[in-house]
Order: sequence, then C-alpha cells, then structure tokens
Amino acid sequence: MAKLLGIDVGTSGCKVVLMDEHGSVLKSASAEYPISTPRPLWSEQNPEDWWLGVLSCLKEIDEPSPDGVGLTGQMHGAVFLDSKNKVIRPAILWNDQRTSSECEEIDHAVGPDRIREITRNPPLTGFQLPKILWLRNNEPENFNRLSRVLLPKDYIRLRLTGEYATEVSDASGVGAFDVVGRKWSAEILDKLNLPQEMFPPVVESDVVTGTTKDVPNLADGIAVVGGGGDQAAGAVGTGAVSPGIISVSLGTSGVVFTTISAPNFDANGSAHTFAHANRGWHAMGVMLSCGGALRWYRDVFARGDSYDSIAQEAASVPPGCEGLTFLPYLTGERTPHNDPFARAVFAGATLAHGKAHFSRAVFEGVSLGLLDGFRTLLALGASAQEIRVTSGGAKSEFWRQMLADMFQAPCQRLQCDEGPAFGSAILAGVGIGLWPDVAKATLQIVKISDVLTPNSVDYSATYQRYSDLYRCTKEWNLG
Ligand code: XUL
Repeated sequence: MAKLLGIDVGTSGCKVVLMDEHGSVLKSASAEYPISTPRPLWSEQNPEDWWLGVLSCLKEIDEPSPDGVGLTGQMHGAVFLDSKNKVIRPAILWNDQRTSSECEEIDHAVGPDRIREITRNPPLTGFQLPKILWLRNNEPENFNRLSRVLLPKDYIRLRLTGEYATEVSDASGVGAFDVVGRKWSAEILDKLNLPQEMFPPVVESDVVTGTTKDVPNLADGIAVVGGGGDQAAGAVGTGAVSPGIISVSLGTSGVVFTTISAPNFDANGSAHTFAHANRGWHAMGVMLSCGGALRWYRDVFARGDSYDSIAQEAASVPPGCEGLTFLPYLTGERTPHNDPFARAVFAGATLAHGKAHFSRAVFEGVSLGLLDGFRTLLALGASAQEIRVTSGGAKSEFWRQMLADMFQAPCQRLQCDEGPAFGSAILAGVGIGLWPDVAKATLQIVKISDVLTPNSVDYSATYQRYSDLYRCTKEWNLG
C-alpha cells in the first residue's frame, strides 16, 4: 500500500499528513510558529521557523520512506535569497499591505489593461511581485544581494531537495505569471527590469520537481511533486476540480473557490483567476481575515476561551446580533473591495449588548465576507451545485450552519478536514503515477461525511448593514 506525505507551510503553523492510497489519514502532526507585525499592516515570518516546524512534524510522523511528497502553503509570500541561498531578510507575507505604491508602479510600467490581460488579475498588495519592488525601493542594500525569490512552500522544497522550482497555481499569485500561457511573463519582467533567473522554473502541480536529500527523518531519493498554493491544493482535497463544486476554506484567510472552464477574468478585479492544480483554471474570492479574525477576537477579548465555547456563546444570540455589526477587515481586504487600507469595525453597540453578542458578530462578520466572495463567483457565472466546507473552521457545526443559512444552500463537510496538506498528498500520488490525473484521484479519494441544509433565516438586513458600514468607513484613512 503506497503512502503519501503532504506538507503544508501555513501562516499560523505547518502541518504534515501521511495518508495511504485510499485516502485514509494515517498520521498527522502540526507545529506553530510566530508571525511578526513590525509596523501596522506589515506581516512577516522567518523562513527558518517554517523549516524547523516541518522538521519537528517529520520527526513526529516518523515515516522515513513515503512513496511521494506533496508541498503546499500560504501563497504570495516573498522569500529573498542571496547567491548562497541565505535568507536576506524576514519573508514578507500574503497579508502584508505595505506595497500599494509598488502596485501603482506596476500598473504604470506595464499598463493597467496589459497587466490584467497577462496575469488575469490586477496587481495586488498581497502578491509577490510588488514585494520585490518594495525591496528595491526601500532596502536597496538587501536588493543588491538578491539572487532569487521563492514562494513559501518552494523554500521548503529547496531545503528538502536542493532544487529551485515552483508550480502553476502558486506562480499565478506572484503577479508576473502569464496565467493563460502558464509561464513567467517576459514582457512584465522586462518592463520592470527584473531578470527572469530570479524566479524558479515552473511546472504543472502534479510533476515531480526533484527528490529528497539529506533531510532528517526522511530517506534520500523520495519524489517531491510541484504541489499547489494552499487554495488550489485545498480545493483538490475537497474534490473542487470541476465546475459546479464550490469549496469554502475556513483558514486564517477565507476563500470561496471554483474551477472554471476557461481563464476568463473578473473585470472588476474582485475575484482572482489563477491556474489550477488540475491543469485548468480556477476563480476565487479571498478574504484576508477569516479564522484570523476569530483568533484575534479570542486573543484580545476572550483569552482562555476555546473556539467551541465562543461558538456556544454566539449561538445564544439571535441572528443579526440585535444590530451589532462587525467588519472583519483587520488586515485590509481583497474580495470584494481590493482595499489594503480597509479597517475592522464593531458598530451598533448598546448597553444591551454583552460578550455573547460580540462573539456572534465576529462569526457573522466573517461569514458575510464569505458571502461577498460567493456572490462574486455567482455573478461571474459560477454554478453552485455542491458547496464543500474545509480547513480548521469546518469542524464547527455552528459556523457551517451559519454559512448554509447565509448562502441559502446546503453545505457539505468532508471526511478529511486536513485541508491543503491532504490535497498536496493527492497531488503527490498523481505525480508518482498512482492515479492518471487529479480528477480521477479525487473521485476515488474525497468523501462527503455530512450535509447541513439551510434554515429559513433572513440575513438580508444584516448583510445590508454590513455593506453600508464599509461604505461609511472606507474614507477614514487611518493610515
Ligand atoms: C490566497 C491567499 C491566502 C494565503 C494564505 O490568495 O492569499 O489564502 O494563501 O492562506
């Protein structure tokens, strides 16, 4: 029986799962690491912490000879390496918002229509490309030492195999990728005066990029496949690899995701169009603080409470929170506003509101953010025959029911909630030839465990308040 390892370099921590060829998870291990916010709206991590986290998980998993390894992780981040592969400065992450002027620089150099035509997206502050320009503009001494830039999971690939490589789904989130041609855009890089050698070669997500070498607790010579950005790999783990299946990922970020049959893109720039790990394309609405907003709320206002007890408390309050409304834009927002300066807000409190109301308002705020993403995809023509909820938050029945009620559609839960790590293990299986392609693999592996059907709850007034609140606060410009 083949065994596959999936490694997910997440934002709050990393996770490694070992599964067999029937999709049963045999072991799973995780490790946390810190995130630093040296200034408001900045977000950084030390890549060495990711590597130490992965090593501690591999030790715990204790399986030196899996048949293949798949990689996934937080997307868009920039790991800056010198010519000796030394990390030059902390990695700048996907939810960092320091690069709005570099996005303008990209629009100006490439042309606003042309950049959208090639990458199928506007230049966004979270993407990797503006981070490289930020380094050039703000830390020239670091930029002069720069030899290569890697995405987070690809830095772990380098440590595992000694190879530089990435794959199409994560490359799509750099901002310099020709999403239709599935290759780096020489035109964009030329216009920005960046050498293509700075970026790793790109393969499809199920292609082997190298083999393990000198890794503690792993034998040499194990195939490591391209894998996928956490959203594409997570979608593989839910079986969202054909149109009609929408996956909703409740991680630090919150993502509503669908496969699309052609790389058409959202002219409003609200949804991202990227290459998918199934050799096709996908569209997704991304909110930056989903589970991240819940974690912030727990740490700041409910220290010592478990997520379950916060959900229990929230369930004691009626839908709509008797007027209390929460905007979850703690790190700015992408879908639907693309506004790096959007701020989180609690509004509408009275003496009658207690802690339980605030707890529910946070759940409602993040769920309404997901509803924005869902509506964005429907407006682009997506069909929602099945909705599959995944990642950490999927464990909460309260939250899944709230989503079913807001979307007015049944929400499925999967037997395996291991999210992107599970999807990347499936990609490893395709890469070593266990299955002929990603679609056939997921048909065999992914199983639904239960479905919650919508109750007739009317959230329309709550949604209206939520949307109005952003319009009222967006000009505050708190810097
Ligand atoms: C997707 C995105 C996040 C990160 C972190 O575009 O920015 O989902 O990948 O999870």
